Amino acid sequence: MVREVDLRSDTVTKPTAAMRKAMAEAVVGDDVYSEDPTVNELQERIAKFLGKEAALFVPSGTMGNLTAVMAHCWTRGQEIIIGDESHMFMYEQGGISQLASVHVSSIPTLEDGTFDLEVLKEKIRPKFPNIHEPSTGLICIENSHNRCGGRVLPMSFIRELCALARNNEIPVHMDGARIINASIHCGVPVHEIVKECASVSMCLSKGIGAPVGSVVAGSKDFIDR
Ligand SMILES: Cc1ncc(COP(=O)(O)O)c(C=O)c1O
Repeated sequence: MVREVDLRSDTVTKPTAAMRKAMAEAVVGDDVYSEDPTVNELQERIAKFLGKEAALFVPSGTMGNLTAVMAHCWTRGQEIIIGDESHMFMYEQGGISQLASVHVSSIPTLEDGTFDLEVLKEKIRPKFPNIHEPSTGLICIENSHNRCGGRVLPMSFIRELCALARNNEIPVHMDGARIINASIHCGVPVHEIVKECASVSMCLSKGIGAPVGSVVAGSKDFIDR
């Protein structure tokens, strides 16, 4: 028997027979009325797994990140700060600008997927700036980091960045498309890695091999929004 392993991307996955069977036999309901027991169970399990109050199932990681930005940057004139090698900046069709009408301020991503926190500090704009400027509504980080070859952010960096964000009353979103890979690499549970992040998106379709789907998680208010 020849087994083929396609290493172009960890997104190249096909459902196994067991996955197809589970899908065919899943109990379903109307999700608008929160009456789909399978989706509800998935959301509850993942919220608990990520240590967050609530979670929302979405078709893709791109949609998870976009909805997170839209929910955090709810009023007009908002800006996010993001690494210039991040997936959200490079590969998500500029949806943050095109669809969410949120301005993007990029800072250099360092080789290990982190930023220089002094550079970040300089980029933060006040809550109520003068009439000419948007205000910083969100800081985004990526863990593990796609374009940095899957590098995992050091916990010390996440803590320092979150402390800086908190001092400026700015939430942090983690694009955790492969957060489970990061957790296994550093031996830290996922809920601990994302503890100080207001929100996290996690893909089911990548390192853990489901054919499709992502989940975005955060506070109940954030998910309702
Ligand atoms: C770090 C990261 N975030 C988000 C995404 C987007 O996921 P999707 O392809 O499900 O939209 C990807 C996809 O590869 C990714 O690598």
